[in-house]
Amino acid sequence: MAKMWAGRFKKEVDSKVNDFNSSISFDAVMYENDIKGSIAHATMLGKQGIIPKEEAKLITDGLEGILKDIQKGDLQFDMTAEDIHMFVEAELTKRLGATGKRLHTARSRNDQVALDVRLYLKEETLNIKKLTAELVDTIIKIAAEHTQTVMPGYTHLQRAQPITFAHHIMAYAWMLLRDIDRLNDTYKRMNVMPLGSGALASTTYPIDREYVSELLGFDMPTQNSLDGVSDRDFCIELANTIAMLMMHLSRFSEEIIMWCSWEFKFIELDDAYSTGSSIMPQKKNPDIAELVRGKAGRAIGNLTTLLTMMKGLPLAYNKDMQEDKEAIFDSVNTAKLCISTFIPMLKTMRVLKDNMRNAAARGFINATDCADYLVKKGLPFRDAYKITGTLVAYCIDNNKTLESMTIEEYKNAHELFGDDIFDAISLDSCVRGRNVLGGPAPEAVKEQIKNAEQKLKELK
Ligand code: ARG
Repeated sequence: MAKMWAGRFKKEVDSKVNDFNSSISFDAVMYENDIKGSIAHATMLGKQGIIPKEEAKLITDGLEGILKDIQKGDLQFDMTAEDIHMFVEAELTKRLGATGKRLHTARSRNDQVALDVRLYLKEETLNIKKLTAELVDTIIKIAAEHTQTVMPGYTHLQRAQPITFAHHIMAYAWMLLRDIDRLNDTYKRMNVMPLGSGALASTTYPIDREYVSELLGFDMPTQNSLDGVSDRDFCIELANTIAMLMMHLSRFSEEIIMWCSWEFKFIELDDAYSTGSSIMPQKKNPDIAELVRGKAGRAIGNLTTLLTMMKGLPLAYNKDMQEDKEAIFDSVNTAKLCISTFIPMLKTMRVLKDNMRNAAARGFINATDCADYLVKKGLPFRDAYKITGTLVAYCIDNNKTLESMTIEEYKNAHELFGDDIFDAISLDSCVRGRNVLGGPAPEAVKEQIKNAEQKLKELK
């Protein structure tokens, strides 16, 4: 494709350089945003009398036509074009002749691309938010069914204290609610309109930036033309928000992978959301969860790419910034793909309650409660802790559990032990007893679920 800026040059650009320089292979996805941005710009140029009103109308109609033709598949992108902006403008000029050439008045590709990326990412931020909200909703619904499903809670991956499955997975709902909060925040700072910044120093034409900002649904125009064209904070913030979200999904995935193993067998994934092995007939692998865990690496990598790309750039625009798109688009696509696969995987997963309960019944998960029992009978906690420790050691030596010891054995350890010890250390009382705000007791978790539903409504 002939270069718009060819006038200054005596030679054609080397074809390798042309390919190297071109971004159309990855920025063509912004065609709709580019065209809508141009329509708003041309409308403003006409309103301000910067170009004749009739020509502005021809331009906006021409742009609408190009948009329709691309959507219908009647117009293909020219992969030799430098970028999507050049492609649309050249196509317009092909269709309208001289009038098409008026579109780029009072504009530079620098403010144009800053606008297009914002428009594109605003939409995608909302898409990711919607999917994340659906995921939170899915988790809440599963949790509501499992407020009585006792399982071991872990620290250091060692059985620690009994909790419920509802309580465990609600932890992820809260992480994701914070991610939605961060998406909202990211959107807010992304929602400023850079057109009118020109190449770097704005323009001498009497443009109306507020009008363009309003037409395109932004909060307000950017306040400094240098910053307007060279700010990519919004890409970095979104990449960060996505990296955090993916880190959360990756932790959840790691647990799903463990829970599926024969060693745990706390859940079983649906056949439709698992895969087999090409050699081992018995295998059913949690590939989706593994891929989500793996893809979190890309999201973190993209954030690093963007921060590193920006950190040395002098004001204002530099071509390095063309590298923003592949990184942030990949983060966006990765997040959407992962969340939308994760939701049905969770929805179809079977929870193996008995296995969870059996695991909770081993590993002296009620030892804290045994110590607390003595404390409630008047012993200082440190003494109670020590006595319980000797009891656990005794059980291990004699192949017993705290539940299977006799009352005589308890009494030998301390005279404060009575028959009510067995009830105090039963799994259900251990869980029910932790009835504080944020605790695993069924009543507390029901309250937590209500609060999470409320929070989700507020953030939506
Ligand atoms: N394709 C370019 C990008 O993505 C558009 C802006 C080009 N501006 C320039 N002065 N060469 O950043």
